[in-house]
Amino acid sequence: MHYYRYYAQRNHYVRTTLSIFTFMIFSFLLYLNFDHLVYAYQVLRLQRHSHISLNSETKAGGPLGSQPRKLRGITRIDRLIRYHDFNYLQAKTLTYENHTYYNHIPILYRLPQKVTTSALLLIFHGCSRSANDWFHTFERQRIIGAAIDLGYGCLAFQATDEFTRCWSHNVNFKENNDAQMIFKGLEGFYKENPALENLPRFTFGASSGGIFSSIFVTNQRYPIQGQILFISIILPEVLENHVKKKKYPPTAWIYMPRDMEFASEERINASMDIFARENIPHKSFNIDPIIVTRTTFYDRIPTIGRAASRYLFKRLERNHWFDSNFCFIYNPRRTETWKEFLFSPTTGEMKTAEVHKIINNHKNIIPDFLNTIYGEHEISYERSYEALKWLHDIYQNEINSKT
Ligand SMILES: *[C@@H]1O[C@H](CO)[C@@H](O)[C@H](O)[C@H]1NC(C)=O
Ligand SMILES: *[C@@H]1O[C@H](CO)[C@@H](O)[C@H](O)[C@H]1NC(C)=O
Repeated sequence: MHYYRYYAQRNHYVRTTLSIFTFMIFSFLLYLNFDHLVYAYQVLRLQRHSHISLNSETKAGGPLGSQPRKLRGITRIDRLIRYHDFNYLQAKTLTYENHTYYNHIPILYRLPQKVTTSALLLIFHGCSRSANDWFHTFERQRIIGAAIDLGYGCLAFQATDEFTRCWSHNVNFKENNDAQMIFKGLEGFYKENPALENLPRFTFGASSGGIFSSIFVTNQRYPIQGQILFISIILPEVLENHVKKKKYPPTAWIYMPRDMEFASEERINASMDIFARENIPHKSFNIDPIIVTRTTFYDRIPTIGRAASRYLFKRLERNHWFDSNFCFIYNPRRTETWKEFLFSPTTGEMKTAEVHKIINNHKNIIPDFLNTIYGEHEISYERSYEALKWLHDIYQNEINSKT
């Protein structure tokens, strides 16, 4: 009798413990996979809106609008984005064409393979960069990946000035070598791809390429339906002579609030005030400084791997580079102590030979990414999906309202 009761009680305990245990495992798995579930939900929702007939949730000419909620400084879209046409963990999966027109004008381009091409995006790099970078650096590849998924065929051009690799900022098209080069290049491209000639054109210009874009969109020969200025501004002369006369395409700015000088929020706000007055669609998207964790370097530069990512984090932490939020205190362009403590072979107590090798192999990539972390003036994939989608929505709304 006693024995039986003891047994029954024990069974009860076992069952209760098991249930609690199962529940804990289930919760843990749910926690681990939460991002994936949210992603699956998003994909299902996105699919309803499908790619190019993006629906009309954005109002033309709206002001800043509601800022999306961010977690660790990054929007939900940017955290969860996956690319259907290439695998950003494997850089080589972003294939592209490299054609030279009239013997001297290179265009590197990639058309969507999973969706129909519904627009072209002309891409202008920043100073001392190249068209090639757009297919070979992680952050830029991800901008192209987002554009492709939205139906943009991406054409990366290269500035004609071989020395500075900056773009001409001459507003007179006849004297602007880069504009002439693009006219000619497009002519060759369309001869080869006549079916693409009737598609709307948009531009994406980074830094110097952004100022060039602000000029190029005023050309009559190949009209442009909208532009994205990445950490860049509209040339003041263009602002004065074109935007204030109403003939100017919708413009999105992607900017870094830590930039107090060149493409500052204040300056962009001032430009947007003019757009608002002229009733031209405009919107700005801010990229905050990155909140660094042990996996940040791995998340953004997948070839670095987890061990080297942890190592870099530790070195930065030990050298007091983080504020209480784990954002950079110092601007890596001005304070260069990182060159010593990240790369010097003598500093690593916990650095294995393997980690040392990996970090050495990424010596050319890490400095740019430190700038991206600081968030003053550097390339970043963040916000580009939203900005590209916004441009497309604006265009689509306009087409719909005309028919
Ligand atoms: C593209 O082709 C040109 C000429 O064939 C070559 O010089 C250049 O290195 C190529 N660029 C890339 C990124 O493949
Ligand atoms: C820019 O405009 C936004 C929205 O009106 C405002 O919240 C922000 O403080 C402005 N920034 C500056 C630097 O003026």
